[in-house]
Amino acid sequence: MSIVLGIESSCDETSASICVDGKIVSNIIANQTIHEQYGGVVPELASRVHQQNIVPAVHQAITAAKINKKQIDAVAFTRGPGLLGSLLVGTCFSKAFALANSIPLIEVNHMQAHILAHFIDEPKPTFPFLCLTVSGGHTQIVLVKNYFDMEIVGETLDDAAGEAFDKTAKILDLPYPGGPLIDKNAKLGNPDKYKFPEPQIQGLNFSFSGLKTAILYFVRDHVKENPNFLQENINDVCASVQSRIVSILLNKLKKAATQYQIKDIAIAGGVSANSGLRETLLAMRESHGWNVFIPKFEYCTDNAAMIAIAGYYKFLEKDFVGQDVSPLARMPF
Ligand code: KG4
Ligand code: ZN
Repeated sequence: MSIVLGIESSCDETSASICVDGKIVSNIIANQTIHEQYGGVVPELASRVHQQNIVPAVHQAITAAKINKKQIDAVAFTRGPGLLGSLLVGTCFSKAFALANSIPLIEVNHMQAHILAHFIDEPKPTFPFLCLTVSGGHTQIVLVKNYFDMEIVGETLDDAAGEAFDKTAKILDLPYPGGPLIDKNAKLGNPDKYKFPEPQIQGLNFSFSGLKTAILYFVRDHVKENPNFLQENINDVCASVQSRIVSILLNKLKKAATQYQIKDIAIAGGVSANSGLRETLLAMRESHGWNVFIPKFEYCTDNAAMIAIAGYYKFLEKDFVGQDVSPLARMPF
């Protein structure tokens, strides 16, 4: 039997998870609400709250898994990418835990872990598959050849898809974090009411900064004519913006699937919780003959279960790191 403790602290969620023989048996996530009043994550505050939350989160994960901490065989942690101060908390905790219990330490790349969340439950994709990884900081199309053999074949040249949602929410005077709120309002609106531009970017890369500017001018002009424009039309605006972000993402994914002749298609990362993206992708399963893989909601946004499962596959390979490891704000695959 092999038991891996996973630790995630790259942004504003402190999370701990236990993986027993490739099965996730606990996944504790402590959210940080302090950032809401600032309209975005304040890195300095995030690291302090991680410091408060990490020991209780690990304790709860061990208790919920009904194991003893002495049974843990390895500790896997997010080395990057992410906020450095936040990553330092998870890294230091994991190093200390490994040292105190004389167990190996496993580094995990957060973006790879989002993809490997697809190996938590059945059905699992088969290699090679394509994964659209969409989060607050990244937008990537990844060709996944094996657990740790991944190639980024397309990525954003400016803002990430999650940023496009969050910045739009700010323009629309919606509180942080805006992505889930745009999703909620969009369910009640007409996605064809307003047409926002689709950027013409070569190849498999993305750009969202032009869309953000177009939304800014759109809102400014309409509010000038009617000061109540946003209150009266918020659902239609959200539905139309969401529909454009989803079409930008899925048109590139379709192009990648054709280019690489791949039928196993996955999505991952916080924005994969978006209902418009999930529904449109499911519809494409029929029209394109794809096998579609969509994570459970709890494995879309940041969580330690994805770190624990990635750690489990590295544990099988004895892919360990030493006590001199340090976190990386930017971390290539
Ligand atoms: O993967 P994640 O939890 O953290 C990062 O690694 O960045 O992704 C967070 C992002 C945020 O931008 C948030 O607004 C977005 O995911 N998000 C959503 C939804 N849920 C989370 N965006 C659109 N619709 C949602 N339902
Ligand atoms: Zn993430």
